[in-house]
Amino acid sequence: MIVLIGSQKGGCGKSTIAINMAAYFAKKNEDVVLVDADPQQSSANWVNDREQTSLPKVHCIQRYGDIKSTLTDLNARYDYVIVDVAGHDSKELRTAMLVSHYLVVPFRPSQFDLDTLPHLCEVIDQAQSFNGNLKPFGLLTLAPTNPAVSEVQQANDYLADFPLFTALSSVIHDRKVYRDVTAEGKGVVESNNLKAIDEFENFMKELFP
Ligand SMILES: Nc1ncnc2c1ncn2[C@@H]1O[C@H](COP(=O)(O)OP(=O)(O)O)[C@@H](O)[C@H]1O
Ligand SMILES: [Mg+2]
Repeated sequence: MIVLIGSQKGGCGKSTIAINMAAYFAKKNEDVVLVDADPQQSSANWVNDREQTSLPKVHCIQRYGDIKSTLTDLNARYDYVIVDVAGHDSKELRTAMLVSHYLVVPFRPSQFDLDTLPHLCEVIDQAQSFNGNLKPFGLLTLAPTNPAVSEVQQANDYLADFPLFTALSSVIHDRKVYRDVTAEGKGVVESNNLKAIDEFENFMKELFP
């Protein structure tokens, strides 16, 4: 199955979600490949750092431009193909949407991220007229851990106006451990931060019940 982590916004945690998904599957001994289709190479750099450790290996492939046939080929060889793309409207994002099964759209609970949803919906709508299998999910990321802040509820209310998206009830919070493990080639499920492990596992179980 092809799982695209995409949006037209940079810095909303796409690469972080992609590498943590890859680590989660690798830890469970699942057959996973990470496709880095962003010239900034965040995912590929993480895989390089991971190779210096004894953690379960994650295969990584870097491809740019029209990545449809690469993804289709990989889908025949791996159980999970995780795709990380750049944070703007790119050829990689649009072509990947044509063959993906899941599109996970991470967004911060800020108006700047939410403002990009209407245009993204148009792009998804076009993709779905070619790819009836594409299922879009909205995932709140980098949410404040302070429970007094009501941004998460406000963002979820806003997302409800876009019925194209299945809003995930799992929320990924802004936690330093996400940055720390990234620098070590690990995922949070390989850390000892129980809150982060719990929230990431809950997210994965919600997405892949
Ligand atoms: N849940 C999180 N908690 C803390 N820091 C995060 C989290 N998600 C992402 N970051 C940090 O925010 C920055 C942007 O995240 P990144 O995954 O690179 O976004 P994108 O790929 O969408 O541009 C990075 O420095 C990353 O380590
Ligand atoms: Mg990125």
